[in-house]
Amino acid sequence: MNIHIFQNQQELNEAGAGIITSLVQMQPKAVLGLATGGTPVGIYEELVKAYEKGRVSFKAVTTFNLDEYVGLPADHPESYHTYMKQHLFDHIDLPASQAHIPNGYAADPDAECQRYDQELEAAKQIDLQILGLGHNGHIGFNEPDDSLISSTHPVELKPETREANARFFSSIDEVPTHALTMGVGTILKAKTILLIVRGADKAEIVHRALTGPITTEIPATLLQTHPHLVVLLDAEAGRLF
Ligand code: GLP
Repeated sequence: MNIHIFQNQQELNEAGAGIITSLVQMQPKAVLGLATGGTPVGIYEELVKAYEKGRVSFKAVTTFNLDEYVGLPADHPESYHTYMKQHLFDHIDLPASQAHIPNGYAADPDAECQRYDQELEAAKQIDLQILGLGHNGHIGFNEPDDSLISSTHPVELKPETREANARFFSSIDEVPTHALTMGVGTILKAKTILLIVRGADKAEIVHRALTGPITTEIPATLLQTHPHLVVLLDAEAGRLF
């Protein structure tokens, strides 16, 4: 495991975007696993800048998002489809047909998860999986539990997860109760995982995730088993290292 701690957000953003850009420059057909939430926004901004400066093209890249809320149409302002368009897809040359996000509005969520896994299987392996971290140690929307699921599946969100995400909605009642998420098996199968964590409120959980006992009650502890884990922390999140 490779842990880097940055004194300011801009350095962290540039480092994260630099890792992604270098991979795509070397491997134009790279398969990227993408995350949403507040954490990767600055990194996506830097990626867009690199694209605008002509340093990188995404036209042969394939992407898979980790998760999507159940019950929000793709064009809902808080869907992860909308998030990805706003922060990345509308600003780069990634063809829409190569960008994959689970459809949280599908009539049959189980069938949708199977369809997503088939797409993942066809792509063989994610080269670089970007990950954020939930306050309870979730990755994607794999919530703490006494067992974890390997493949894409529907999940009921924990109250603390809905509370954390309520800041994006006008009230907590509007935060969906369920999501579809890539499973931990798929996440751990990625060639390289790039875990990004910011803020004092995540210092304790990221320390436990990377140094504590491995337990499904903190899904991110499973990342300790991955052979190529790169961790980018801001100074506040990295306070306990
Ligand atoms: C969200 C997402 C995760 C994300 C995490 C942290 O609920 N499903 O993919 O990494 O929780 O979010 P944030 O970056 O906003 O703190």
